[in-house]
Amino acid sequence: MSSKKIYTGLIEQYRNQLPVSKDTQIISLGEGNTPLIQLHNIPSTLNKQVEIYVKYEGLNPTGSFKDRGMTMAVTKAVEDGAKAIICASTGNTSASAAAYAARAGITAFVLIPDGKIAQGKLAQAMMEGAIVLQIKGNFDDGMRLVKEVADEAPVTIVNSINPFRLQGQKTAAFEIIEQLGRAPDFHCLPVGNAGNITAHWLGYSEYACADSSLFAEVCTNGFADFSGKPIIDTRPKMLGYQASGAAPFIRGDMVDKPETVATAIRIGHPQSWDYAWIVNSESEGWFDECSDEEILATQKMLAEKEGIFCEPASAASLAGALRDIKSEKIPENSCIVCTLTGHGLKDPDTAIKQSTAPVVKVEASLVQVKSAILDNM
Ligand code: F0G
Repeated sequence: MSSKKIYTGLIEQYRNQLPVSKDTQIISLGEGNTPLIQLHNIPSTLNKQVEIYVKYEGLNPTGSFKDRGMTMAVTKAVEDGAKAIICASTGNTSASAAAYAARAGITAFVLIPDGKIAQGKLAQAMMEGAIVLQIKGNFDDGMRLVKEVADEAPVTIVNSINPFRLQGQKTAAFEIIEQLGRAPDFHCLPVGNAGNITAHWLGYSEYACADSSLFAEVCTNGFADFSGKPIIDTRPKMLGYQASGAAPFIRGDMVDKPETVATAIRIGHPQSWDYAWIVNSESEGWFDECSDEEILATQKMLAEKEGIFCEPASAASLAGALRDIKSEKIPENSCIVCTLTGHGLKDPDTAIKQSTAPVVKVEASLVQVKSAILDNM
């Protein structure tokens, strides 16, 4: 008998809370189970008594939170007999779709905006054998085309309009509750399509056995069975931060030409628009925007002060949280979780461009290496 204890991914972990049966063949790469890391050095500069944690989703198998949704979406697509999946993407969804399709032995078609996706993400999709369609348009154009083509060709959409994506992504909220032993007071997320903020609210609501009108929309009843597990009695206020140049939730309307250095959230027509407003009102949270400068400065600060490297879009959650802590919109003594949605290695070009760390060129000699060290102490 085997005594192996290998973590086999979030569907196995939360089987009773997800729409799978005992016969479902699970397509997994061991996603989920990501660390919740308490920040020490950044909060100590704030002069405020707060606990800030980051949920480091960049440590999923393809380097972003998308894997949580993709394991579910591809598992269900395969169960349904699909031979091909399709998505529009600002990069991370395409990398994840490509990986899970490869794992399942099916084809992934990915539509990406011409020249506007980070190098690491493109490299992933190409290596993982996706058929990459680079369109002369932005993510919103890609999304429209994906919906149109799925009506005409035998492909399953794995964007977050696929309800199984949200089911998988809600498990991030389950993990946070189990890691903290409670629900945080505030949960901060970068918002693009708003699928992830919706999925988290679904997860918190299920765990709390608290009603949400989202259930009627996206939850096929009966998955939230937490018998034997602690049930929380509070839910966090959900705070969604957008990049200023791509901020439809702050403008109150769609944005036709979104622009931001945080290419992952360069989205003007969010697919989960209505859901996100439900989350906003039920959780009594808010949306706000961050400038590109704030996003980049926060990305750098997190790397320099805490050793945590996230991609630009991810830093919007912390940038917004820090601003709201300073202004006391988030009160002292709060417990705050910020989701870091993607790994910093996804976008090396943006990181190197803004990095001021010295790269000292020296001869391969002890004298030169030693003097370089002493000069830089
Ligand atoms: N952060 C990162 C790193 C992302 O890649 C995305 C979305 C988001 C935040 C926003 O999440 O859309 O659920 O509000 N990326 C999608 C993609 C659009 O194609 O990879 P959301």
